Order: sequence, then C-alpha cells, then structure tokens
Amino acid sequence: MLVHIVADTVKKLADLRAMLERHHAVTSELLSDASIRCGESDAVVVTANLQAVENIATLKEMFGKLTHVRKRIFIVDQKTRLFTAQAYALGATRVLVNPISQSRLLAELADRDRPETNLNKVLPSAREAATAGAAAMASMFSDALTGNPIDVGSAKGTAGKIADSIAEDGLCDWLETVRHHHEGTYQHCLLVTGIAVDFGLSLGLSKADNERLYSAAMFHDIGKAKIPLAVLDKPGRLDARERALIETHPVAGYDVLKGNPAICPEILDAVRHHHEYLDGSGYPDALCAASISDLVRILTISDIFAALIERRSYRPTMPREQAYEIIRNMEGKLERPLVAAFRAVALNR
Ligand SMILES: [Fe+2]
Ligand SMILES: [Fe+2]
Repeated sequence: MLVHIVADTVKKLADLRAMLERHHAVTSELLSDASIRCGESDAVVVTANLQAVENIATLKEMFGKLTHVRKRIFIVDQKTRLFTAQAYALGATRVLVNPISQSRLLAELADRDRPETNLNKVLPSAREAATAGAAAMASMFSDALTGNPIDVGSAKGTAGKIADSIAEDGLCDWLETVRHHHEGTYQHCLLVTGIAVDFGLSLGLSKADNERLYSAAMFHDIGKAKIPLAVLDKPGRLDARERALIETHPVAGYDVLKGNPAICPEILDAVRHHHEYLDGSGYPDALCAASISDLVRILTISDIFAALIERRSYRPTMPREQAYEIIRNMEGKLERPLVAAFRAVALNR
C-alpha cells in the first residue's frame, strides 16, 4: 500500500515514517510546505495541532484535494469532541488520538483492506453521501456542544443525499460504507438514517413522511453531544450512574432543537421519544402505546437495529439475522406488524 504522511512538525513526521516505512511504501511532507504530492496514494495519514489557526486553512485546502484517497486517517493531539468533529468536518474518514502505537496504526490501515469489506464494490455515491453525512453530523454535534444554532437546512439536505444514495444503490452498500469508514456516534446516526430511509421506502411512506422520518433519524441522538465521550464510547457495560447519564440524551436533544423554527413538531417528538416502548417501559416520559406516533415507532425499530449491527472495536459485528431475531423477541415493546414489515429491510435489502 502507498501511504502519504503529512505532519505539522519534523518530529511527528519522522515518528510516523519510522512506524510505517518497513510495512508500506511511504511518501511524506510537512504541512507548512505541503504541495500534496500524494498522487496515487491508497491512504493518507495526517497529524496536526488543530488549535493552531494557520493549520486549519492549510488542512482544509489539502483535504479538498484528497477526496479520491479512500483512507484519510487524521491523528489528533487530544481526545476532545471538538477536535474529532473538526477532523471529520475537514474530510477525515477515521480519527485517532495521540499517542498512537505502531500496531494500532498498522491495524487501522490493514483493517480497511479486509477482503470481506468489498470496498471496491461500494459505489462512489454511497461513499460521497456518507462523507457528507459525517461532516454534517460533526458540525451539528459541535454546534450542539457550543450552543450555536443547528444548521437544520444543511443537515436535511445531506439526509436527502443519503436517501437518494440508498434509493439508487440499496441499503447493503450504505451499511458497508458507513461501518468501514465511520465510528462511534456518527457511525450510529448514519446507520439509523440509512435504515430509516430504507424502512420508509419499503413501507411506501409518502415523500413528505419519508423526509420527516430520515430527518428525525439524522437528529435523533443530537443530545449525545452533551454526554462525555468516556461514557458514550465506553467498551462493555455501563454502571447505573453512566446509564442514567446516557438516558438524559433524548431530553437534551429536545432542548437543543426545540426553539429552532426549522424543526417541525413531529421531528421534535421523535428526538424526545425514540427510546419509548409501547408497554410504557421506555424513557424519558414512560409513554404508552397510544401516545407514541407512527414515525417514532418506525424510528425506534431502525435505531435498535442500527445499534445492534454497528461496528465496535471491542466486539465482533453482529450479523443482521441475529439482530433481527433480538428485535422480533422484544415482545410488547415494538409494534408487531411493523417488526414483521422490517424483516425485509433487516434481511433482504
Ligand atoms: Fe438515542
Ligand atoms: Fe440512537
């Protein structure tokens, strides 16, 4: 594999070269004199301090020229949500945090080359829609965190692109692309959006209802912007305090969006209630069946399925059949005819 390295200091550049050059063909350059000579590189690995304003403009220009490179790994200096969001907004397909070990970096480069991912078969439109989707997520999460108004129009426009990509290429390409290029909450929200699009199409929803559904999916977990990453991305089981913190996200999301004139009541309802169950055992309002709208019921099924099949570094990806079985066995919590209709989305599409 041909890997191009860009770093903002001589030391970082030398460290990365030392890690990679025994294993891959490597080219490199300093960010300050980057002419982006990466040509036909298969991957680009970038590390730079995102607190330095002068770096941002250079990186923006640089990533603009790198859209043809399939793997764009950005290594940030600190694990903060703003840096991660910024790196994705710049165009990274994967963000890692310093200090990074050689084995981790090599695994990242190799991981995306696993033959079963069939990346060569993934059509560019799915990749482009996923990259645009991740950038929209990043800017939404960063606005929610800093208290800026969310750019609803641009998020809805991106959701529309995702819908077009799935309508054209199907759900499989979308799931493959998102699971192999994105991580954490962005991966989850992109998966939910794609699954909701496909579910809406398979149910024959009207164009307007479908638009409301996939927009609600884009926004549904925006409240997670307020949850510390250490809890959100914690591998394994959460304790009671962490679980309680996670369960604040529907109301937090509702509070972020409620004053926004571009958000309709149906979307607001879905953001607040996507963890409610028909039997009243959900949260935050313990609603019962009659109070849970059709849009929310569809979104909840899409959300649970996405959470089950997402790629996590600490566990194998669950097969779609197994995930559907879990949903099918959630007796009394989800609408049975909808779960039956979801079978085609979960297994066949
Ligand atoms: Fe959620
Ligand atoms: Fe979710």
